[in-house]
Amino acid sequence: MGRVIAVANQKGGVGKTTTAINLAASFAAAEVNTLLIDCDPQSNATSGLGFVKDPDRISSYHLLMGAASAEEALQTTELEQLWLIPSHKNLIGANLELVEVEGREYRLRDALASLRDRFQFVVLDCPPALDLLTLNALVAADTVLIPMQGEYFALEGISELLDTIERIRVGLNPELAIEGVVLTMFDDRTNLAQQVKNELKNFFGEKLCETTVPRNIRLAEAPSHGKAALVYDPRSKGAESYIRLAKEIIERQAPAFSHQPSAETLTTEGTEEHGGEAAPVAVAVQGGEAGATVEEIPAPAGEMDKTA
Ligand SMILES: Nc1ncnc2c1ncn2[C@@H]1O[C@H](COP(=O)(O)OP(=O)(O)OP(=O)(O)O)[C@@H](O)[C@H]1O
Ligand SMILES: [Mg+2]
Repeated sequence: MGRVIAVANQKGGVGKTTTAINLAASFAAAEVNTLLIDCDPQSNATSGLGFVKDPDRISSYHLLMGAASAEEALQTTELEQLWLIPSHKNLIGANLELVEVEGREYRLRDALASLRDRFQFVVLDCPPALDLLTLNALVAADTVLIPMQGEYFALEGISELLDTIERIRVGLNPELAIEGVVLTMFDDRTNLAQQVKNELKNFFGEKLCETTVPRNIRLAEAPSHGKAALVYDPRSKGAESYIRLAKEIIERQAPAFSHQPSAETLTTEGTEEHGGEAAPVAVAVQGGEAGATVEEIPAPAGEMDKTA
């Protein structure tokens, strides 16, 4: 049974799509069959993998509307073990078109049921909103990966996302767990970034991924070439960090696999884990019990580092 990971944060521009593309590509490079599904009408994951706009192509819109099967929507990519279900801007209409439909939150989950055994990872790139599209992704998912920018306002809005996850757990998807929180565009040389990281560690405990993703120009350039960073420039710090993140997630999930993904094939040069010692888990975020509450979110200390 594959693992469905929704990459979600309703905050815009935090690195969801960059994470979804590069994590999915890194899983595929670890020789496990991986499917990336673009659930965002902006279609950045679609164009980021080199797919030009095509209104006639079967997309996640058709999937949600029940107009095509997931099988029909699959596209092969440059990476042998990576498939894509692309998006199209008309997906925005699904929010309205499905509003009266019974079971509208289960559309994606039901559409993917037939594919789950074919892929060891399914990565869902969500839009920057807690709308019906994100809801469908969170209901279809086993876990949520939350990219966050290591900045002063990182925790702003996170309580809303955690509340949403909790409500989905209670009503629609009791198994939904938090895969992790990953710091993106992270510059560990600044005091501010370190402070934010410490705050997040206190708040999320072991759910904060050891791997952080640095601000890296190759990650920003790669989508304009229609490539994942590990294809565009495999030696870049950006590509390396996502390879490390994939390895971290694979190793955490290892017992769940019948075919062991070859995390060993994922090598990085100068692998240097961030963090080090494990901090005590301050807040239980995963599991059926209510996790963090809004009140527990510490305000990031210190002033904005203008030199960052
Ligand atoms: N680690 C990084 N280093 C440099 N640039 C990055 C990095 N991560 C993301 N970016 C750039 O930041 C911008 C926003 O990233 P991205 O599109 O991944 O965010 P998003 O959360 O998916 O945005 P949206 O909310 O609009 O869907 C993009 O231009 C992307 O290329
Ligand atoms: Mg995006």
